[in-house]
Formats: sequence, structure tokens, C-alpha cells
Amino acid sequence: MKRVFSGVQPTGNLHIGNYLGALKQFVELQDEAECVYCVVDMHSITLPQDPKELRSHILDIAALYMAVGIDPKRSTIFVQSEVSQHAELSWVLTCNSYTGELSRMTQFKDKAKGKESAPTGIFSYPLLMAADILLYDSDIVPVGNDQKQHIELTRDIAIRVNNRFDKKVFVVPEGRFMKEGARIMALDDPTSKMSKSAENPHSRISLLDDDSKIKKSIMKATTDSLARVHYDVENQPGVANLMTIYSVFSGKSMEEIEKLYEGKGYGDFKKDLVEISIDGIRPIRERFNEIRRSQELITALDEGREKASVIAERTLKRVFDTFGLGRK
Ligand code: AMP
Ligand code: TRP
Repeated sequence: MKRVFSGVQPTGNLHIGNYLGALKQFVELQDEAECVYCVVDMHSITLPQDPKELRSHILDIAALYMAVGIDPKRSTIFVQSEVSQHAELSWVLTCNSYTGELSRMTQFKDKAKGKESAPTGIFSYPLLMAADILLYDSDIVPVGNDQKQHIELTRDIAIRVNNRFDKKVFVVPEGRFMKEGARIMALDDPTSKMSKSAENPHSRISLLDDDSKIKKSIMKATTDSLARVHYDVENQPGVANLMTIYSVFSGKSMEEIEKLYEGKGYGDFKKDLVEISIDGIRPIRERFNEIRRSQELITALDEGREKASVIAERTLKRVFDTFGLGRK
């Protein structure tokens, strides 16, 4: 059976971009593969975090994993920093990568903006991500489009090490990107990605938003003056984004949606989108509230750590043996 690995950072609450671009795939993949899902807390300290909030967000993300339908009986859910091999493998990969390839990462360029004071963690973070993936001999990595470059880098390093030793030290992973919903844009600015950290809370819909907040954010969402529900990313990016959200929550195609709203204005369309979104989000929020403070969550994470550690120890031993690290 193929192995799937993915991770989400515990910074802030997840929004529908995270859900539609990543988590929904995590759930579906449970039917075809052995899935390992990680709360990547070590990634989030690339920027300073409030320690109390970080601890709380770690449990939030784990509870959200379960609330969207990841079943800890079938899949492994665990916290990255509780399995020490991630950091150890990341050093080995650091020594097998080039500063040039890391400098080319667009996420690094965006965040560092050429400043000398850019944190080193922002620079080397793709290597920790590569370690996460390679540690579990992962075949498939479901992520949003923005992670494509990091997956490519992971593959390059895996192939490089395999070639150097002329054996399969690492499994070379493949990214799995969603078509619709791979990139959900901000509701107030359809030219930038929906993000956890944008200042305007109405730029996103969080998975824990209540019904009235969902309604308000959608009703406020940027559209245009063309007054037609038509999928045209170039000329109607706001409407196209709302249609994408509509489509992934309802299962309807763009053509079906266009037909449904032929001759109608944005008011009707937005009203229905509010309902469809609320119907999609409410069960997640309710399940989250049940799980977040439950023993069920703690047990899932304890068991997840044990299961993850067994695989991680085995892979790291293989890597150490290959490189001649330690004394056997
Ligand atoms: P992050 O919020 O950056 O930790 O991302 C968690 C996961 O959600 C990653 O797989 C991202 O690629 C995905 N993701 C984040 N923002 C969006 C978005 N606006 N649209 C689609 N996917 C996203
Ligand atoms: N870098 C990813 C993000 O910011 C999160 C992540 C860390 C990840 N390690 C991973 C995703 C391993 C997939 C596999 O969204």
C-alpha cells in the first residue's frame, strides 16, 4: 500500500483554503493509502510564536484533523516535535543541499525580501519539510499549489542521495495537487491567496467561524460590476473565486453554476453560497467542539507518536548507516 504524508502548521485557525486545498484530500486519501498526518509545530517557530498560543494551536489543528474526518484508527496523527528524528534527518539533508537551490524558493524570496535580518529558519525550512516527507518513505504528498517547489526540492535531494550511494536510500515522493480549490483567494482581494495571517478577518472564512461571520464575509466579498455569474479568472477573479468555493462545497461544475444563475445578479448567488458554505462548515465546527478537550484527542496523539516513531527510527537508522554516522 502506498504511504501518504502531509503536514499543517499550527499557526492560527485553518480556513477554507486549507480545507479545500489540502485537508479534503487528506480525508479522501484514507481510502486508498496508509496516511500519516503531522502537526508541524517546528515549522511554525520559523517566526516567533507565543508559547501558550502555540501549545493551544497544536491541539486545535489535531482536533481539526479529526473534525474534518481523519480517523486516528486508520491514519496516524502526531505532533512533529514529539518525534526527534525530523530534526536529525533535516541536518543530513542540509548537508546534501545547495544554498543556490534554497535561495530560489519563491516562499523564501517573498518572506525574506532580500533582508540580511531574514531568519535562517525561513531559508532552511524546506529542508525540514523534506525531512518530514522522506522520514516516512512517503509516496504521495497532498498539498496546495504553493508547496509545489518544496516538493520538487525534496525529490531533487532524494534522487541526489540515491545516486550518490547508488541505492534506494530514500523513496522519491510525488506531490498531489487539487485542481479545483488548489488555490482559494482572499475574499477581499482575489489577487492574493487566502491566508491565516491577513489582517482583515473577512478576507477568509475560518473553519471555526460561526454562521453569522460566514454570512458577513461572503456578503462583503469583492466581486465586480459585470453582474454575471461567469467563470473568468482573468476578468472576474472575485466571482471566479466564489464560484470555486461554491463548486467544491456543492460538487457542481462551473457550467452548472453558470446555468443556475443565468440572468440573476450576485445577490442570489451569494445568498446560496452562504447556505452551501454554512452547511459544509457547521458539522466540522460542531465535531471540533466535541473533540478539542476530549481524552479521545490525547489518546490519538499518544498513539500517533508511537506509530510515527517506529517508522522514523527505522528510516533514520538506514540513513545513518548509509552515511556512516555513529558506531553501528
Ligand atoms: P499553511 O496554512 O500555509 O500551513 O498551509 C496548509 C496547507 O493548506 C498547505 O498544503 C497549503 O498549500 C494549503 N493552503 C494554504 N492556503 C491555501 C489557499 N489559499 N488555497 C488553497 N490551499 C491553501
Ligand atoms: N510547508 C507546509 C506549509 O507551509 C507544511 C508542511 C511542513 C508540509 N512539512 C510538510 C506539508 C510535509 C507536506 C508535507 O503548508
